[in-house]
Amino acid sequence: MSTSRPTEEKLQKVLAAVGLASRRVVEGYILDERITVNGEIAHIGQRVNRDKDELSFDGVPLRVNPELVYYLLHKPKGVISTANDPQGRKTVTDLVPAAPRVYPVGRLDKDTEGLLLITNDGDLTYRLTHPSQGVEKEYLVELSQKVSRGNLRQLREGIELEDGITSPAKVSQIQDGIIKIVIHEGRNRQVRRMFQVIGHPVKRLIRTRIGNMVDHTLQSGQWRQLTTIDLLHFETDQATE
Ligand code: URA
Repeated sequence: MSTSRPTEEKLQKVLAAVGLASRRVVEGYILDERITVNGEIAHIGQRVNRDKDELSFDGVPLRVNPELVYYLLHKPKGVISTANDPQGRKTVTDLVPAAPRVYPVGRLDKDTEGLLLITNDGDLTYRLTHPSQGVEKEYLVELSQKVSRGNLRQLREGIELEDGITSPAKVSQIQDGIIKIVIHEGRNRQVRRMFQVIGHPVKRLIRTRIGNMVDHTLQSGQWRQLTTIDLLHFETDQATE
């Protein structure tokens, strides 16, 4: 890829340019040994190639590879969460730019709406979908009736599903029949199945948060490109949870 940037630039300039913090703050991070270049503690004035060198902050890679893209999509109802559908149905990747080729991180059911990450960064996908990772996912659930306190407690403590009991969840009824639930697991149709067991089939399901990622401005079908810094804060938060 052609670029007008010099191949080697001062580290503090690159770190400021990718939005980590101001140059002055970034210099403090370098002095505090919080920055590494290719795994080695960095020093002020060091020259780096932002397309090739691996820069990390507190051990979290700063993605400066321009070939990696990250989209946060507000998935509409009726669209499927795969990159390709043999039956030719509309998929989430039809809603974002066609190139480079990208894939959803995990999935939302066809009828579930809300936030979905889409990327060509396989490492990030692996880190986020690995069961040990336990990224928090928050959903708004619409039901036709109010849920009893006993049922809310069951949802919080664990529901017996055919693939095992669910892990503790944070659950609150914000209005009669409207529930906010936060889970760490990502089992197939988990939220719908949990509510089915307590006798409340889900009418509408919306994912409103992934880790610390929220976006109240995205309308159904809209997406925005995530910046290096969105991702950095996202992953740093995961690491410190
Ligand atoms: N739980 C579900 O039931 N469906 C989703 O799409 C996501 C979580």
